[in-house]
Amino acid sequence: MGKSTIGIGVLGMGVVGGGVASVLDNRREQLSALVGCAVELKGVLVRDVAKPRAHQLPAGLITTDPRQVLDNPDVDIVVELMGGQDPALEYILGSVSQARHIVTANKEVMARHGPSILTAASEKGVQVLFEAAVAAGVPIIAPLLRDLVANEIIDIHGIINGTTNYILTRMANEGADFDATLADAQELGYAEADPTNDIEGIDAAYKLAVMATLAFRTKVMDIDVYHEGITKLTSRDFLHASELGYAIKLLAIADKVGDAVQARVHPALVPQDMMLAKVDGVLNAIEVQADLTGKLLFHGAGAGSMPTTSAVVADIVDIARNVAGNSVPPSNLALSDSVTIRPISELETRYYIRLTTTDRPGVLAQVGKVLGDLNISVASAIQKETDEVAQSAELVLMTHLSSESAMQTAISQLEALDVVAEVGNVIRVEEW
Ligand SMILES: NC(=O)c1ccc[n+]([C@@H]2O[C@H](COP(=O)([O-])OP(=O)(O)OC[C@H]3O[C@@H](n4cnc5c(N)ncnc54)[C@H](OP(=O)(O)O)[C@@H]3O)[C@@H](O)[C@H]2O)c1
Repeated sequence: MGKSTIGIGVLGMGVVGGGVASVLDNRREQLSALVGCAVELKGVLVRDVAKPRAHQLPAGLITTDPRQVLDNPDVDIVVELMGGQDPALEYILGSVSQARHIVTANKEVMARHGPSILTAASEKGVQVLFEAAVAAGVPIIAPLLRDLVANEIIDIHGIINGTTNYILTRMANEGADFDATLADAQELGYAEADPTNDIEGIDAAYKLAVMATLAFRTKVMDIDVYHEGITKLTSRDFLHASELGYAIKLLAIADKVGDAVQARVHPALVPQDMMLAKVDGVLNAIEVQADLTGKLLFHGAGAGSMPTTSAVVADIVDIARNVAGNSVPPSNLALSDSVTIRPISELETRYYIRLTTTDRPGVLAQVGKVLGDLNISVASAIQKETDEVAQSAELVLMTHLSSESAMQTAISQLEALDVVAEVGNVIRVEEW
């Protein structure tokens, strides 16, 4: 005999927790029909019970005492929606050790501790699902775990941070600079008061680590992901990129060559006719290239209460069905130990280089010599608008395929040249 009620304990009742509580309540019948028995909220953990909540909860359900939720014998599934590492990780591991199933939207915890959480869950015979941790309501975790298992994944290219995509879209459309656009985005609620995790590419790196782990069936942790943010981009870069036929996007890229995985997050020039170049505003998109399916695009709202709730509730239903039917949950992912991480220094790509130079003859020859000596071949060079007062000019170069380590050496050598006032920006060019 299966259970008559599946008990849910929710940790956190903010943007996502509030949405989840309302859907569990308002779609009660739909969910019990899907699961085969009632799915009921048994406890909700918050920091402050007095705070007004978007969804009214029955009295007695909400508490600031974690033990009341975590040790409640009626809770079958713990849904972690607090965010951050502490105490979320402790609560997740503690719940797994008590044989509770877990649903979480926490990218940070999954990027830093996903493999060990999944191993602990396997040992206890419980499920840990985390669809909402990447791109909210856009299904990407389940496809990687299930629908694409017959494939070898070749690469992943994603726009997986809505805040930065919003800022970059506005910079591209309005010719605005980064600081002003960020301030505006903060005022409008699209960027947080402390935007570091978004604008430095850390949030996207967490999500990429989670996707790469599943795609390549190996441990790719947050520290394995190279990340560079968007703070150095200027309106000049958008102007030049557009003239050259490119958009600028913060891309999250992972690929596997032989037994080595590379995962990186950084701004990139993307040809304007590619699908990801057209993903604007707060939207997310992930392009997965797999050997049997070819290219697939997953696209939609990567944040927000209801899109995230959609993914969390789907995970709850998935687990609840197994609990209700007394079925053995599918074993968690087996991760290979033989795959290594290929460092960014081993990347080969094309580069856009913007330099401020002195406006006198011979500049191009000196710059060309630095690059040529390092085997970096220039595909095009455009001298832009001269500032007569400062006697400076802007030089925009596009290279052919070059090595990242050579490019890093080139940047320091260019900075040392008398004729170069500033290396304004160097941006990788991605065509796949
Ligand atoms: N928001 C999105 O669009 C979105 C999208 C995808 C994934 N996610 C992920 O979903 C998770 C939740 O995000 P959110 O936007 O809903 O966050 P949020 O609005 O800040 O809500 C966090 C909730 O957790 C509670 N909480 C935090 N620390 C706690 C602690 N130590 N003890 C007890 N309760 C605690 C807070 O309690 P109080 O209300 O009492 O302060 C609040 O109810 C995060 O992992 C986030 O990355 C969010």
